[in-house]
Amino acid sequence: MKVVRDAAALAAAVGEWRAAGQRVAVVPTMGYLHEGHLALVARARELAPRVVATIFVNPTQFAPHEDLGRYPRDEAGDIAKLEAAGCDLLFAPPVEVVYPPSFATRIAMEGPALGLEGTHRPQMFGGVALVCTRLFGLTRADVGVFGEKDWQQVMVIRRVVADLALPIEIVTVPTVRAADGLALSSRNAYLDAGARAKAVALHAALVFAAERLRAGETAGEACAAAEKRLLEAGFDRVDYVAVRREGDFFELDRLEGAARVLGAAWLGSVRLIDNSTT
Ligand code: PAJ
Repeated sequence: MKVVRDAAALAAAVGEWRAAGQRVAVVPTMGYLHEGHLALVARARELAPRVVATIFVNPTQFAPHEDLGRYPRDEAGDIAKLEAAGCDLLFAPPVEVVYPPSFATRIAMEGPALGLEGTHRPQMFGGVALVCTRLFGLTRADVGVFGEKDWQQVMVIRRVVADLALPIEIVTVPTVRAADGLALSSRNAYLDAGARAKAVALHAALVFAAERLRAGETAGEACAAAEKRLLEAGFDRVDYVAVRREGDFFELDRLEGAARVLGAAWLGSVRLIDNSTT
């Protein structure tokens, strides 16, 4: 696997593949890779003969008080995992390659970026849309692969790709979970043993809310019951439990068609998010 850190080397490698008529899939990540990320690489390999993974802890999606500085990193470990997964190229640029000093573009997202994560992390989706748009341009990828664990992020990326008519197809992969149901996440590394034992309650509460919706409860009732469960299970604070329609991310009061129950909650200083189908 090639490891490249600058735009020219990336363009040269991708240019060769494209000249040979090979499609390129990109898997954007912030590193500290786990089986969830590797499932995206495996899906990418089914979609295109050439797979590029990116590792970039994107400063524009973090607020000043968030965990940018302490975000976990293990580049050597990540390289070994990507190599074993059959990735062709890792693009791991420094900040000034993604955002050169002259960089002057920002993206303001509305629609699916409003509410939920957008309320609690107002800077995030503009930053995600910006970095993904830039990475799509730099890699010239035909297809981008994203995880359903970050369902609202998928909605935002689909929106920006459609709105800016970006020539890339977006494909998603179901959430990869630990045996007890906890969604794999780089941030799980922050959990001590006690918090890790409680963390399983997040997915369980979202599945519970989905069951109550199917049984005919309103979104308000089902989400309130799930929030209560989270607090009883030892979560310190719940940012939200909410129901959104799958296709357009509209708020739902009752179950009609495919929907997701999404949640975010805190164990001490660690914030976890997850979602469940209904
Ligand atoms: P990161 O949190 O590293 O996640 C990279 C990709 O892996 C995302 O598409 C995410 O949804 C997916 N992923 C994470 N955990 C997963 C799991 N348990 N199962 C399946 N997929 C999982 O999300 C980001 O980085 C950033 O916002 C990024 C898109 C790279 C932009 O900076």
